[in-house]
Order: sequence, then C-alpha cells, then structure tokens
Amino acid sequence: MAQPRADPGGPLLGARLPHLLYGGDYNPEQWPESVWEEDVRLMREAGVNLVSMGIFGWARLEPRAGQFDFGWLDRILDLLHAGGISADLATATASPPPWLSRAHPEMLPELADGVRLWTGARQHYCPSSPIYRDGARRLVEALADRYASHPALAMWHIGNEYGCHVPACWCDISAADFRRWLQTRYGTLEALNAAWGTDFWSQHYSDWEEILPPRRTPTWPNPGQSLDFQRFSSDALLECYKIEHAVLVKHTPGVPITTNFMRFFKPLDYWKWAAHEDIVSNDSYPDPNDPEAGWLAAMDGDLMRSLGGGRPWVQMEQSPNRVNWRPVNAAKRPGQMRLWSLQAVARGADGILFFQWRQSRAGAEKFHSAMVPHGPVDSSPTWRAVVELGADLKRLDAVCGSRVPAEVAILFDWESWWALELPSKPSTELELLDQVQAYYRHLYEANVAVDFVHPEADLGGYRLVLAPNLYLLSDVAAAGLERFVQAGGMLVMSFFSGIVDPADRIRLGGYPAPFREMLGLRIDDFLPLVTGETIGIHSESLGRGQGTVWSETIEPEGAEVLASYSGGDLDGRPAVTRQDFGRGAAFYIGTRLDSTTMGRLLRRAWVDAGVKPVLSAPAGVEAVRRVNAAGTSHLFLLNHGDTEVELEGTPGLLDILTGRRLAGSRIKLGPRQVAVLEEPR
Ligand code: GAL
Repeated sequence: MAQPRADPGGPLLGARLPHLLYGGDYNPEQWPESVWEEDVRLMREAGVNLVSMGIFGWARLEPRAGQFDFGWLDRILDLLHAGGISADLATATASPPPWLSRAHPEMLPELADGVRLWTGARQHYCPSSPIYRDGARRLVEALADRYASHPALAMWHIGNEYGCHVPACWCDISAADFRRWLQTRYGTLEALNAAWGTDFWSQHYSDWEEILPPRRTPTWPNPGQSLDFQRFSSDALLECYKIEHAVLVKHTPGVPITTNFMRFFKPLDYWKWAAHEDIVSNDSYPDPNDPEAGWLAAMDGDLMRSLGGGRPWVQMEQSPNRVNWRPVNAAKRPGQMRLWSLQAVARGADGILFFQWRQSRAGAEKFHSAMVPHGPVDSSPTWRAVVELGADLKRLDAVCGSRVPAEVAILFDWESWWALELPSKPSTELELLDQVQAYYRHLYEANVAVDFVHPEADLGGYRLVLAPNLYLLSDVAAAGLERFVQAGGMLVMSFFSGIVDPADRIRLGGYPAPFREMLGLRIDDFLPLVTGETIGIHSESLGRGQGTVWSETIEPEGAEVLASYSGGDLDGRPAVTRQDFGRGAAFYIGTRLDSTTMGRLLRRAWVDAGVKPVLSAPAGVEAVRRVNAAGTSHLFLLNHGDTEVELEGTPGLLDILTGRRLAGSRIKLGPRQVAVLEEPR
C-alpha cells in the first residue's frame, strides 16, 4: 500500500498558513464579478483563510473541447490572494461538461440493469471511461500548469465526493476494465475459477471474455464476483483520482493533495484511498433532528483521524444551517453548528469548512444554507454564527498539529463489510455499522478515546482491540490478532467473525476456524433471530439481559462462560465467554447484546485492559484530549445537552476559548457550550 507523504508535524499547511483552516466551497462562477469584492471583504470579516475553488467549474474552464478560459479563475484567485485568502484549488473534474457527453455518450455510466444515467445533474461519468479520464487529465494538466506558482494555491482538491452518486458502472467499457483488473488479481482463469467457486451452478469460465460485472441476474450473482466487483469499483474511481494526482505531483510536488471523503461511505475502501492523500478530509451532515447525531459525528471524526494514521484532518464540508436534501430539512439549534464544529476539532480536525460560501440563487441547491445567506448578512443568525466560529478558531491555534491519543482500537475493514452484507447469509439483518455503533457508543459515552484500525495493521500500541463482526479476514490479519492477544492485549470479538477468507470462501475446520484456539471455543451452528425476537441472557457478573439478531451454539473448548442463554432451545448454553491466551485474554459475544449488558461487558474489558477514560463527566458531556509534540494537552469539554451541566476541573487551568482561568474546581457549561482547557505538561 502506498504511504502518504511524510508528515512534517505542526500546522497542516505548514508555515504558509499556520492556523486552523476556516472557509468553505466558493463558487464565484455562479455570481457576477461585481459580487466578488464583497465576497472577499466578508471572508475577511468572518476570519476565512481558505476556500475550495472551482469544484464544479469544468464547463466554464473548458467551454469547448480543448478551449480553455482561465480568465475568471485568474481574476478571482488574484483577488483572494490580495485579501490574504488561500485556495484549496479543485481540479474541477467532478462534473463533466455537456459537450463531452454529447460527443461521447459512451462515457455515461450504466446501472446493473442497463439503464443509462444522463447529463443534466452531476457526476455523470463511467469511472473506467478513457474519454472521461483523458479529458480530466488534460484539464488538470492545464490547471496545474497555469496555477503551479500562483501565490493563492495552498492545497489541491481532487474531484469531489468520489462515488457519491455513481459508485459503480456496469457498462461494456467497465466490463472490459473489470476483466483487466481480474487478470491482474488472478493471473490465470483457473485461479479465478477457484476463488469464485465457479463449479457451483455451472458458472465455470473458459474464456476471460465470458466474464461480466454482476449485472441484473435471475437470482444472486456469484458472491466472489460481487465482492471483486466492489473492490474493482472502488479501485476504478481511485484510478481516476490517481491519474489527476500524478499530474499534480509532477507540477507542484510540495502542495498537499486531498479529496473529500463521506464518513463511513460503503462503496469506497478509504484505507486504500487515504494512502494516496496528504490530508484526509471529510464531509459531515448530521441531521439536527436526530438525537443520535452528536455521537455518530464523533465516530465519523475518529474514522477520519484514523484513516490519516492519527494526523490532523479537515472537515471539508458541513452546513452552516439547513441542508436541502432530506425530506424535511431541520435548522440547526442555536449553538449547534459551533458545537459540532468544535467537536470535529476535538477529534483531530485542523480545518473547518462549509458547503458553501454564498447561497446559490439558482440550481438544485438554492435552499441549502450557506455562510452568506440570500438575505442581508446583518440580520442573519447563520452569518453571526459563522463570524463567531471564525473568531473561536483563531483562539484555538495552539491545537494545530496535535494528536488524539487512544488506547482502544476498533477493527474496521471495507472488504469484510462488503462481504458480510452480500445476500444469502444465515441472516441478512446483520449490518456491520449497527454492530460497530453498538460498541462505539459505550466508548463515546464513557469518554474513552478510540481509533479505527485496519485488521492487518500493527496493533502493538493498543491495550484493547474490538472486533465487531469481522466476517472476512486474511491470514495476515488473523495471525496479527493472535499475536496481539499473546503479547498481553485484550480482545473483544463478536459473532460471525473469522468465517471466510478474502475470496469469501468458508474457512473450514469448525467456526471460527482461525480463532478457535485463541477464543477456546467452537461454534457448531448459527441460530439467527427474526426481527423482534429476543433471547434471554443471564450472567453473575453482567446481570440479566437480552440478545437480538443472532444466537449460536457455542461449545467451550477451554473458555470460561461469562453469560448464558436463558429460556428456549439454548437454555443454559454459553452466550458470552472469556479465555486467557498467552499474556492477554479474549472475550467472545455470541449475540447482539442489549445496550446495558454490552456496556457492562465493554467496561469490564477496558478496566481489565487498564484503559483510562479521558474524564468521568455527566451524561451528554463529551471529553476529548489533544496532545501536542511538546506534551501540552488541550481538554475539550462539549455539552451536547439542552441544560447547563457542572463538572470537576482543576483550578487555574486556562480556557483558551474564553481566555479565562478556572477560579474554583467547578466548570459550568451551558447548553451546547464548549470549553477548551489548556493542561501544561
Ligand atoms: C455534498 C457535496 C456538495 C453539496 C453538499 C450539499 O455532498 O459535495 O457539493 O452538494 O453535499 O449538502
């Protein structure tokens, strides 16, 4: 796997912008030039220092094949630079211009049932299309050549939200590209036939040309083929990114490169993608109507930090207020935009940007909020909140470049996610994110810091590793996990883990074959539960509880039984086990535990592992610590609740947001308020 360029530490953009980044998507081509001067003036008023430019600018930058018009971009970049504002310059390839698809309709994407997606919205391209790829490369060459030494250029923004609308394409061009990809992966047809198990249902291939993407079929397509198509589709888009990346590195070797991710976006294997980015960035749109939104956004932030190997990341997009794409688009509550922005900073973001700077007058997003609303700015609460946040971020410069230390890791793998959720399983109600969230929520609520980690990564730095439904894994990952426990680590693993190899073929020898020795058990059968069905759990140490979704017959082969099923056919049989292994120990959970029981079990595991929460705080208060290279830390305290809370603090500590020191040992936080306490080394 490629590695991101070396991390120099300190501010993300180094000495050229030694601050937290602040700004948003700026689409000046939607406005007469007479508005631009005012834009720059308002940006300065809000403390904006970086704007993402030209994301959807292709049709204006190249209005006809090979005819470029950079005049408008020259003028606005000069204006921004004169105003002290830097550009996160987009490559403008997210939405091809109408002339390209008119001349080459074969570049349009096709769905599994042959339906073609037409021009008129955005992202209408087949990722494997040579026409699209060549057109994008030519545009990026021209852009990079023209702006390589422009003083406003601070960062490159390749594409936009790859795969957001078109994560895969099933057309003939994609089919040929898929075959090429398979030839690289397998070398021979025999190897492919063996991996896909094509002796089943007469699927044996005798010629590469017989192989298709999994188009609409009479019933389930081959699971190996489906899984490889997901891998291929992620790689096909990554190839588009890499083509542009290579051009940019050639022209501007020192300018950092990003593309904006979309949280836990299933179609793209972000581990592979992040390895080709200098800065990981994310788009975050929690629903203000969703009571779970706060902790789910924290989880997204932890993923972004983890994808970059712990380095600071950028919240590339969020909405200043309402979005426009939910059936009902709730406004953010007073203080909520600030709270969620500072939450991202707490979880390692060194930049907060919005979609978008000025609210569009026309087009499909004209009712999406923006930093500058349709009406006058003076009377706009959204604008006021934007200006206040800009001032807050300036006070937080001291956190630039600092890290969020974590002793707990959650194993997370896209390939296992794809394979787990393919059809024809003991239960199709098993969803990976539901399981991951069932773990994460307890860590979040107890303020235990956590990283997400690829199963093949080095686990040596962690005390506790959590493995929610690691259905598919490689031999390397299995051996690494065993080594981790042998060496004294603590592991908690959920049901239906270690079941298949990377080709989605069963690992024979009794479930879960790679972990039987470490877990001290064997699973003889899976007994999934239907929607609404529960199974009783009884345990001396964990109390009485319930399981849902899944149960199984666990045959202990040395493991200690921590909880048993009560009632039904599994009455008295093990539900949760623990086994000492080497210098460590492994817990195993055979059902989806109710939240209280899961919380008790996890607490026991992190206490046994010696993991310490950041702070014991009242419910609804999030506490996260960032630590810089000199050992100074900043303790972020965020009250997600609607009422004031009081918590313990160390007298004398400086709240760098207010500039005031704590007088006594109590800290009061109003609804949606935040404190950032500086803790000297
Ligand atoms: C993002 C996208 C932006 C804008 C925004 C609206 O998905 O990158 O261009 O459409 O959503 O919320």
